[in-house]
Amino acid sequence: MNNSTKILEMKDVSVFYDSIQALNNITLEVGEGEVVALIGANGAGKSTLLKSILNIQKPKGNIVFKGKELTKMSTDKIVASGISLIPEGHVIFTSMTVMENLQLGAYHGDNDEKAINNIFEYFPILEERKEQIAGTLSGGEQQMLSIGRGLLSNPDLILVDEPSLGLAPKIVNDIFNILVKLNKEGYTILLSEQNAKKSLEIANRGYVLETGDLVMEGQADELLENEEIREAYLGGKSIDEGGN
Ligand SMILES: Nc1ncnc2c1ncn2[C@@H]1O[C@H](COP(=O)(O)OP(=O)(O)O)[C@@H](O)[C@H]1O
Ligand SMILES: [Mg+2]
Repeated sequence: MNNSTKILEMKDVSVFYDSIQALNNITLEVGEGEVVALIGANGAGKSTLLKSILNIQKPKGNIVFKGKELTKMSTDKIVASGISLIPEGHVIFTSMTVMENLQLGAYHGDNDEKAINNIFEYFPILEERKEQIAGTLSGGEQQMLSIGRGLLSNPDLILVDEPSLGLAPKIVNDIFNILVKLNKEGYTILLSEQNAKKSLEIANRGYVLETGDLVMEGQADELLENEEIREAYLGGKSIDEGGN
C-alpha cells in the first residue's frame, strides 16, 4: 500500500462452512481512496471474503474498518458505519419498478429524494426507466440498479462482487467506467472479479485468491505483467500480444 490511510484491515481471517474451511488466514488491507482487486476463479472464496466483512458469514480473526472492529458487530451496524456490499448476480427486486427498488435501498428519510437524484446522475438510464419493472431491464441496467441501491446507504467503502458476471464486453466496459468514476468521486472500492485483466486495469493494487488462500499480492500494473498471473488468469499471453 502507498501512503494512504488504511480504511479496512483484515488480519488472519478464516471462514468455515460447517467443517469446510473456505478462507484460510487472510490478511489484506484497503487504503482510503484505493481500488483493490480481489482476483480468483469460481469457488476461490471471493464472495465469502466480502460476506465476512459484513459479518453475513461469520469470520474468525480481525476485521477493522475506520478503527472499529467489525467481527462483533451486526450486519446492519456495519452497513450504517459506511460499508456497502453490491452482491454478485445483480440482486434486485425483479417485480418492482426501478424507483421502488431505489426507495427500498434508501433509508435516510428526508434525504431519500436527494440521494436518489444523485444516483440518477451516475446512471441517467435508470431515471429514464424509473417506472419500468426492474426484471425487464437488461443485465447491464440491472447491475447499475444494484450498484445504485448499494450507494444509497451512503458508504465510504463499496464491496463489488463480480459485476462483470454474465455481461457482454461492451456493457462490462460501461460498468467498469462507472466504478472508475465512483472512485474518482471518493468511493473506496474492493472489487471481486474473475476478470483479472479488466479489474487490474482499473485497480491500484490486487490480491489473488486460490481455494481460500491469498497466494499473491502487489501493485496492479505489476500483477498484470506477472508471468504466473498471465498463465492462470490472462490466457498466458502478454497483454500487448492481445491476451484476452
Ligand atoms: N453456503 C455455503 N455452504 C457451504 N459451502 C459454501 C457455501 N458458500 C460457498 N461455499 C464454498 O466455499 C468456497 C468459496 O465459495 P465462494 O466464496 O462463493 O467463492 P467465489 O465467490 O470465489 O466463487 C467454495 O468451495 C464453495 O463451494
Ligand atoms: Mg462469488
